[in-house]
Amino acid sequence: MERLQKILAQAGIASRRKCEELILAGKVEVNGETVTALGTKADPEQDIITVAGKPIRNENKIYIMLNKPKGVITSASDPAGRKIVTDYVKGIKERIYPVGRLDYDTEGLLLLTNDGEFANMLTHPKHHVPKTYLATVEGIPHGSELDKLRAGIKLEDGMTSPAEVEYKDIDTEKKEAVISITIHEGRNRQVRRMFEAISHKVIRLKRISFGDLLLQNLKRGLYRHLTKDEIESLKNMAISGKQGKK
Ligand code: URA
Repeated sequence: MERLQKILAQAGIASRRKCEELILAGKVEVNGETVTALGTKADPEQDIITVAGKPIRNENKIYIMLNKPKGVITSASDPAGRKIVTDYVKGIKERIYPVGRLDYDTEGLLLLTNDGEFANMLTHPKHHVPKTYLATVEGIPHGSELDKLRAGIKLEDGMTSPAEVEYKDIDTEKKEAVISITIHEGRNRQVRRMFEAISHKVIRLKRISFGDLLLQNLKRGLYRHLTKDEIESLKNMAISGKQGKK
């Protein structure tokens, strides 16, 4: 049980003092009864609390990042019973869902949340949130081929916007290269298709950053909650369309 003004403030209605005023003004009801006494306590999980007739939203907001393994579907349900990303966050009781998607065979940083506004902001094409991937490709792309990806390359759904591209590792024996690529869009299978367009098949793909959030040493299949600063930074980035504060 919590004091009503605290519950209202936590639900984002207004400051605690303003919420006290709302209670005194008779605008707040608990289970259909108007409450005007400031000391009144309620249970935000059980009681139906309304302000000016509208129920408050008291769901805890959850923001987590998962290191998605390959061979897992980015979905909150699968009728065919295949492994899904939410199988990896069993400890969380809120109904969370992925922010955007990674292919079945792509691994790495995936955000999950129950904050729909946050998810929409980050995936909206106009916000251009940068995402960095490590792509292991067949063959060793020539610098001039990577320049094509840097400039923007024609795919069947149009030109890609310029990408940042860097060699990370070259294995001349296996004839493979690891390339870091940062894109600012989120089209379907975009990185794989960009490399296909320069005739290098992606054999492993891992997302290592989303905005200024880094996967770092989070182990495969594990998740962690984002910090307040990380959440703020992502929100700022989505709003401004720019890199948020570090
Ligand atoms: N690009 C891809 O090709 N696949 C992903 O999963 C993400 C980006």
